[in-house]
Amino acid sequence: MNNYNFSENLLNVRMSPIVSISEEVRKRAPEFKSATGKDFVLFQRGEIDFQTPQYIVDAAKKALDSGYTKYPKSGGEDIFKDAIINKLNYFNNATGFDKDNIVCTYGGQESLELSFKLFEGKKGVGFAPCWSCVLENFVPYCGTDFHQVPLGSDFSIDFDRLDKALESAAFFYLNTPQNPTGKLFTKEEVTAIAELCLKHGAFLISDEAYEAVVFDGEKHFSPTSLDYENIISTFTLSKTYAMTGWRLGYLVTRNKQIPKLLKLGNYTQTAGVTTFLQYAAAEALNNKEESQKAVNKMVTEFTKRRNLFYEGLTQIEGLGVTKPKGGFYFFPNFSEFIPADISGEERKLYIYNLLLKEGVASVYGSCFGNYFDDYIRFSFSTTPVPIIEEGLERMKKIFIK
Ligand SMILES: Cc1ncc(COP(=O)(O)O)c(C=O)c1O
Repeated sequence: MNNYNFSENLLNVRMSPIVSISEEVRKRAPEFKSATGKDFVLFQRGEIDFQTPQYIVDAAKKALDSGYTKYPKSGGEDIFKDAIINKLNYFNNATGFDKDNIVCTYGGQESLELSFKLFEGKKGVGFAPCWSCVLENFVPYCGTDFHQVPLGSDFSIDFDRLDKALESAAFFYLNTPQNPTGKLFTKEEVTAIAELCLKHGAFLISDEAYEAVVFDGEKHFSPTSLDYENIISTFTLSKTYAMTGWRLGYLVTRNKQIPKLLKLGNYTQTAGVTTFLQYAAAEALNNKEESQKAVNKMVTEFTKRRNLFYEGLTQIEGLGVTKPKGGFYFFPNFSEFIPADISGEERKLYIYNLLLKEGVASVYGSCFGNYFDDYIRFSFSTTPVPIIEEGLERMKKIFIK
């Protein structure tokens, strides 16, 4: 076979471990079913079991019927950008933006990829644990020299360590509310991080995919509301409106050089986001009343699931559980349940395998970077209350003696 000279960065991109986990579950499910008569409980995925609200579906149909089927405007249609400016104002308390501050993208994922690409080959910093896609995809694809700053076991920030890590960094990646911990960074924390970035001449890439999935009446604080030029905030409609398959997102920055730069790349790579979908996206954001109704319905259901999950997990003595304030994940610490003489790869998979044997699919902590090998991520985004109850019963059988 010829030894072609492919891009090394591209060859370094890895398949998400969550995909391999789902494949493993698919293989093992029939055997589990015939032995127990039961289905696997699937806590591994970040999909959502809601349908896209009808008012958005209708807007997409109307846009198609109206003939919005031509090439889109590079960087985003005016109607979508105006809706984004409106939403930044009413939802994020962020003002002073115009269309030149915005790039419309294929989901939050493309916003992030473009942002990481701006700093290709440079030093980037982020908290551990960290969303696996950053580590498996953006970092290798963009040749980022990525440094991880661990959060504490209660997911608190060590600002001295962060300060040191940011020396000579080109950017810091922040995700709030955070996948996988469910941590909602406070206004004070976000502001302090932005200011540390400013001090070191670094950009803050802020991933706000879960901005609408916030519990207990708390509110997401977007750094975009700060009057700094060194911030890029990335947003998506995927989670807010159960639109994961529509692939709609956008990035926002006060630094006007960036959209200009990205527009060039965006134009040559994808020629922009599907035109009629941008009209539906505009309606999704502009129709505040319907939007609020849809978000409230989703958050009410997720709150029920979170509370039940939390109650169940805290009944397992020795488990380190933090109640998530946003997103739809738990990230408990299973150290107490792993024999001390187990290490390395075996340790990373120990709890995950125990759970699989009992028909519970999860994601092991090492998928989210260094430092959290003894942790497990459970998603409750596709599991109604009875399924969570079943999953908890199976876990109690393993961990309560
Ligand atoms: C932390 C985080 N950021 C961004 C995204 C991007 O989502 P999308 O590309 O669907 O907008 C996800 C999706 O799971 C996520 O978990």
